[in-house]
Amino acid sequence: MHPSLSRRPAVQPITWIAPAQRALFEAAGTTAHRIGSGSGGWVERLGDDAMISHKNDAALAELSAGLETWSSQSGWAPVRVFTRFLPLKNDERISPVLKSGDATLPMTTVVTEAGVRYGLDFAAGYSHGLFLDQRANRAQLPLFKPKRMLNTFAYTCSFTVVAGLAGAETVSVDLSKKSLDRGKQNLALNGIAETKHRFIADDAQELMPRLERRGERFDVIILDPPTFSRNDKGRLWQVEQHFEDLVNAALELAMPKCAILLSTNCTKLDPVSLERRSRQCAKIKRRAVDYVRIASQTDFPAGHGASTLWMLVR
Ligand SMILES: C[S@@+](CC[C@H](N)C(=O)[O-])C[C@H]1O[C@@H](n2cnc3c(N)ncnc32)[C@H](O)[C@@H]1O
Repeated sequence: MHPSLSRRPAVQPITWIAPAQRALFEAAGTTAHRIGSGSGGWVERLGDDAMISHKNDAALAELSAGLETWSSQSGWAPVRVFTRFLPLKNDERISPVLKSGDATLPMTTVVTEAGVRYGLDFAAGYSHGLFLDQRANRAQLPLFKPKRMLNTFAYTCSFTVVAGLAGAETVSVDLSKKSLDRGKQNLALNGIAETKHRFIADDAQELMPRLERRGERFDVIILDPPTFSRNDKGRLWQVEQHFEDLVNAALELAMPKCAILLSTNCTKLDPVSLERRSRQCAKIKRRAVDYVRIASQTDFPAGHGASTLWMLVR
């Protein structure tokens, strides 16, 4: 083989979930899940619709053809198909486009996960509103019996909804007020009153020490930051560089027996390094910790989805 060929990333075949798996998701009250995943992109079922996320035209053609075959075998066909280009650079991200289906239908829809309702918006930007790779962590959350949860980098507040349904009070923080407003709508979609839920549009890293000084403490803390962001004052935040700052701030807010979700899409931070780096923080803060690793989701093959780990503070 020519040496330059051996350096190319291997193109892996697309992994499709078994057609019968769709019925299992449906029986569990879940209408939002991956259908197929490959090195060139992936396909999601989102309620009545599907979305193909692709790195290039060849991948789009392959994923589209695969979706048609899978649909014919599974007995489920999307009403609309959206496509979304996955650029290498964040500033080249654009909204999904409608590839097939009725263009006069609303660009919003509602999906369910374990019976919980979430609003999606295909016109809101690059992301539709629900990160499907957090399904197992959302399912784990009520098992901690949360009473006061801090949801940092909350986006559309899916963790807040689950905690609210479990009876917890919550504080949700995100730079984007628009995302938090969608979070409020998600609470309403599930019949949860806002009384016990606060929404703060602010920089999570800057807010956490202020919460600590006010004496606020939490028994569940969600840390699911982006790989890279810049706040409204231009402050750069990079998960690889600032992960310890975030964990240290969370440890200051943690009640005894607090469960802290450590989650990232940064490919350089796998669960082993999340554990190693957070263990060091806990040692310096003199907090004893244990770790729970949730089993991977059946619709996410190895190498797809966020690296995640729950840290339990004793
Ligand atoms: C990966 S998403 C979080 C997904 C969310 N945990 C979920 O499961 O739906 C990242 C979110 O962090 C927000 N964000 C980025 N930088 C931030 C910062 N410095 N402080 C607070 N939120 C920030 C973005 O607006 C975005 O909504």
